[in-house]
Amino acid sequence: MLVSKTDVGGLITYVNSEFLKISGYEEHEVLGAPHSIIRHPAMPRSVFKLLWETISKGEEVFAYVINRAKCGDHYWVFAHVTPTVNRTGKIIGFHSNRRAPSRTAVDAISPLYDAVNVIEKSHDRYGVERGLEFLLSKIAKSGLSYSEFIFSI
Ligand SMILES: Cc1cc2nc3c(=O)[nH]c(=O)nc-3n(C[C@H](O)[C@H](O)[C@H](O)COP(=O)(O)O)c2cc1C
Repeated sequence: MLVSKTDVGGLITYVNSEFLKISGYEEHEVLGAPHSIIRHPAMPRSVFKLLWETISKGEEVFAYVINRAKCGDHYWVFAHVTPTVNRTGKIIGFHSNRRAPSRTAVDAISPLYDAVNVIEKSHDRYGVERGLEFLLSKIAKSGLSYSEFIFSI
């Protein structure tokens, strides 16, 4: 399990040793850095928009994410991202637990992400919005919500 925690702005406040091992970073390089430090260019911006919209509402989100290690290698994870709240219910940070996804799931999500990336790049403005609409409408055509789809692949 690869674990990280962030503050409300997405700056990394904690990582476990597995996270460091797989990403290839030293702890001092990631603490205080934006989580996009491991962002892979093949990852659609739409998915991060959905992620942030969901966790900012205080809800959990699951996502397949391709990440980039310090050496340039990529690695897929199945992430469960949750808000951390204080005793008054205020969001004080976020927490992500990631495990290795199945090959079947990666094979199912990769072409969808590729298609979303094409949509995002084909719009000068609102590419992310159009990409997210495309992603959700594609999933809706299968009669599933985003979460149901994630667990169906
Ligand atoms: C708890 C948490 C974990 C995150 N984990 C990742 C991650 O593993 N990989 C990643 O690219 N972005 C992750 N993000 C999203 C980043 O904050 C960011 O939105 C994303 O990398 C896109 O960066 P950009 O908006 O600068 O393009 C995470 C965010 C949070 C709150």
